[in-house]
Amino acid sequence: MIVTIDGVAASGKSSVSGGVARALGVPFISSGLLYRAATLLGLEARLDLHSAPALLAHLHTHPLRLEPLAQGNRVWQEGRELTDELHSSRVDRGVSVVAVLPEVRAWVDAQLRALPSPFVAEGRDMGTNVFPHAGAKFYLTASPHIRAQRRAHERPEDVPAIEAALIHRDELDRVQSAPAADAVVIDTGPLTLNGVIQTILAQLPE
Ligand code: CDP
Repeated sequence: MIVTIDGVAASGKSSVSGGVARALGVPFISSGLLYRAATLLGLEARLDLHSAPALLAHLHTHPLRLEPLAQGNRVWQEGRELTDELHSSRVDRGVSVVAVLPEVRAWVDAQLRALPSPFVAEGRDMGTNVFPHAGAKFYLTASPHIRAQRRAHERPEDVPAIEAALIHRDELDRVQSAPAADAVVIDTGPLTLNGVIQTILAQLPE
């Protein structure tokens, strides 16, 4: 079975998906890492991030591979591991520009659909576009301020700067971020990480 966990930026998707996947004994797939890796390669090659042909040509000559390990996903570009470089503020700033390109989305979707199930898939459009027939779908939200406070532990900027950047990215990601009609929406604001994981596990079909 496939479980999808979508949600807005810094809503806790990766940590929650990892916890749910470990409880189920299946891998989780972090789709955002492929968008982030495509952005990093585009920045390094000084490509125009608005240009799908330039990005796609580069991705074909520099193939990326997502490794969906239970303890955390890794991304490889041939023998080079990119994982640790994917969460910089510069990638945060560029990724929504890249993720809006239909050609890039099709490239990510094809890689995700080729992975063997069962798994937990997290991102923005896992339940709507990529795995519409998933067995269970969830959508995580929280206020921008709470999300910025959480992300402040992972970025050098202060909370107001992070909050402004998150609100801007929410806006840029809005088109692909709508919850599936059949997703269970969870406000993670008042919950601990384990509280969100347990809420999801309690609602999974037998
Ligand atoms: O948690 P956060 O949103 O910061 O990171 P992420 O899940 O790694 O997603 C990074 C970016 O990738 C998002 O801001 C979207 O622009 C894009 N993305 C997307 O468009 N569709 C997905 N399924 C996953 C990510």
